Parts: sequence; structure tokens; C-alpha cells
Amino acid sequence: MTIQYRDDLDTILYTEDDITRRVAELGAQISADYDGKEIVLVGVLNGAVIFLSDLMRAITVPVAMDLVAISSYGSYSSTSGVVRIMKDLDQSVESKHVLIVEDIVDTGLTLNYLVEYMRSRNPASVKVAAMLSKPSRHKVKAQVEYLGFTVPDAFVVGYGLDYAQRYRNLTCIAVLKPEIYAGPDTPPNL
Ligand code: PRP
Repeated sequence: MTIQYRDDLDTILYTEDDITRRVAELGAQISADYDGKEIVLVGVLNGAVIFLSDLMRAITVPVAMDLVAISSYGSYSSTSGVVRIMKDLDQSVESKHVLIVEDIVDTGLTLNYLVEYMRSRNPASVKVAAMLSKPSRHKVKAQVEYLGFTVPDAFVVGYGLDYAQRYRNLTCIAVLKPEIYAGPDTPPNL
């Protein structure tokens, strides 16, 4: 099968088949854990939409969905953890079972903020499903009940993850070649 953007990619970390299998496992686990309940899946724009759309079809209990968009404050936001809601929930989650759906946990700051934010809305419960986690980059301990895969500290694209808005539609998860994002004068540890 032809892999999109193949010339821009180094290692393929997870194939489309690997992803399909893992999402099915997560869906089965979530369905069993929430047996008899209804879930509000809260996807985090933009990266999580691919995972969200696959995961919700792998879940057999009733689900509602909502989307939030968040933005970091300032250029040093990834270290400060200060984020703001650009698009809030459309529906109340009071007394509902919220499952936040993320594409990747990098520093963990976004997720930490979101979990606290959701808790402040008085839901019945808040859990997290993340397709990927990059443990080497975590700055805070992130709450993740349902994790797809861990990835190394490399520039990872595909399955929702972008570089400059490209590669989100890549069906596998892969490491981007450094020459794509680093110019000749860029130090190797940018
Ligand atoms: C990414 C990702 C998470 C967040 C993780 O979003 O989707 O939401 O960063 O980073 P953290 O763990 O260091 O907080 P991004 O801001 O790149 O937006 P996108 O999903 O639209 O690509």
C-alpha cells in the first residue's frame, strides 16, 4: 500500500494495522468499563479528531461528543502551562461521564489543565484517552486511563499529528525526517 508523504518520513513507528488493532482494544476496554453508562467524549481540536472518530466507532455504549479548542498563552506557554479555551463545550457535562480524547500527551500541561477544567464543571467522572504519550517530555504527571502507544522523543506525525498543519492525514504514525523541519543552520537539538 502506498504511504502518503513517504519521502518525508524516517521510521514508521506504528502502521495503520497497528493503530486499527489498538483502537479496537481501547474501544473494547472503554465499553466494558462504562457498561450501563453513557459517555461524553470531549475531543481536543485539531489533532484528536482522527482518533476521536475512530475511537467512538469502537465503543459500544452510548456516546455523545463535544469538541474543545485550546490555545497556549505566549511563546513560552509550553513551559508555563497557561492555556486558554478558544472553543468551549457546547453542552453541559454536569453529572455526565466525561472522557477527554487527546492525540498526544507531550509535556502533559494541556491535559492537566483540561482535566481540572472539566472537573470544575461538576461531571460524574473525568477520564482521559490519549493515542500517544511521549514520556521523555513529560513535565507534569498526566492522568491517562486509556493509552494507545508511547513514542520516543522525536518529531512524530500522522494520525492527526501535524508539522505546520501537514501530515495529519497520514494513516500511520511516523518520525519526520529532520531535514523537513530543520534548516541547515538549525542546531541538532532544537
Ligand atoms: C498538541 C496536542 C495536545 C498538546 C499536547 O496540540 O494535540 O493538545 O499539543 O502538548 P502538551 O502535553 O505539551 O501540553 P497542538 O497545540 O499542537 O494543536 P493541534 O492539536 O491543533 O495540532
